[in-house]
Amino acid sequence: MKRLLVATGGGDCPGLNAVIRAIVHRASQEKDWEVLGSIQAFNGVLWEPTEVVRLDIDTVKGIHFQGGTIIETTNKGGPFSWPVKDKDGKWSYVDRSDEMIRKLQIMQIDAVISIGGDGSQQISEKLYRKGLNIIGVPKTIDNDLSSTDSTFGFQTAVEIATEAVDKLVTTAASHNRVFVMEVMGREAGWIAMNAAVAGGADVCLIPEMPYDIELVKEALEKRFKRDRGFAVVIVAEGARPKGGEMATQQNDEVGYANKRLGGIARKLIDDLKNAGFKHDMRETVLGHLQRGGVPIAYDRVLSAQFGVKAFEMVLNGDFGKMVAYRHPKFVAVPLIDAISKPNLVTADNALVKTMQGLGICMGVKIPRKAPKVAKVTKGE
Ligand code: F6P
Repeated sequence: MKRLLVATGGGDCPGLNAVIRAIVHRASQEKDWEVLGSIQAFNGVLWEPTEVVRLDIDTVKGIHFQGGTIIETTNKGGPFSWPVKDKDGKWSYVDRSDEMIRKLQIMQIDAVISIGGDGSQQISEKLYRKGLNIIGVPKTIDNDLSSTDSTFGFQTAVEIATEAVDKLVTTAASHNRVFVMEVMGREAGWIAMNAAVAGGADVCLIPEMPYDIELVKEALEKRFKRDRGFAVVIVAEGARPKGGEMATQQNDEVGYANKRLGGIARKLIDDLKNAGFKHDMRETVLGHLQRGGVPIAYDRVLSAQFGVKAFEMVLNGDFGKMVAYRHPKFVAVPLIDAISKPNLVTADNALVKTMQGLGICMGVKIPRKAPKVAKVTKGE
């Protein structure tokens, strides 16, 4: 019997369970494979005693529409930076990757599928270089992994953010207020931009384009001049003013390596007030609601496709690679390429152009090429 170990790492994300289920279903079609799941990313392997569970058709029954992950996850620590408490009560970090690979050999694991975002895939790539037969599946609501057209979970987050905008619009209109809604995305503005277009927002601020507060104020004032009106501003958590810093939150959780973003909606409201903007403003921080609950059908389908392809990559021995969606195909790309640079918004992105066309203010002046006007000849 051959053994596959599945792990889910990083922040949870709608669609994780659908990937796990697809892997197990595809594996069950081969006579000689059994699937195991490591609890809380690779912690399950590293803990003493280990926490590894068997994943079979019964275990994954009906999980494709469940949010979260049945094998749990973590975005703290990991095999290369395992937190250890020193005698003086301080935490330090040790590399347990060699020990983990040895443990996997003892457990007779032939291959590993790691479902996770950029942090998890960086770990996958390092483990591959140490000789582990590992394959990555791109997960993140932020859609910031390159090499793939999209990651699963992202469309569900956009759907949730759009529903929230729809709700804010009715209360904003009733009170003639400005609502500033803060969405997730880390250093990428994809959730913000998609929710802004789908929800008909007036302003959308993203990390890739540090904003000019005067341009934001101008756009909102113009909006209120049009009628008694209201406005919706969507701000990505990583957005920042020109020359300013990202808004961050204090975080003392052991092993948490990321910057915790948050607070930009409040800051924007304060800055608009200080710039002389007079209308009433309220903020909404959507937070983890964007990651919870059931995946939409699109993400269930994408997750199923990723899961089946990932297992087939195991059969083909396509290790050190990540499944990627390159419309209309699912392909294997080297992990090193997938993690080499993040997928961020650029000024020439098609959605940026659409937003310009819709008159959504992005807090910056984006030069626009004059459109070619076709010559109309008489009689045509
Ligand atoms: O990467 C996914 C994400 O939800 C980001 O959008 C967000 O900044 C971060 O994770 C939040 O992480 P945590 O769950 O640790 O608060």
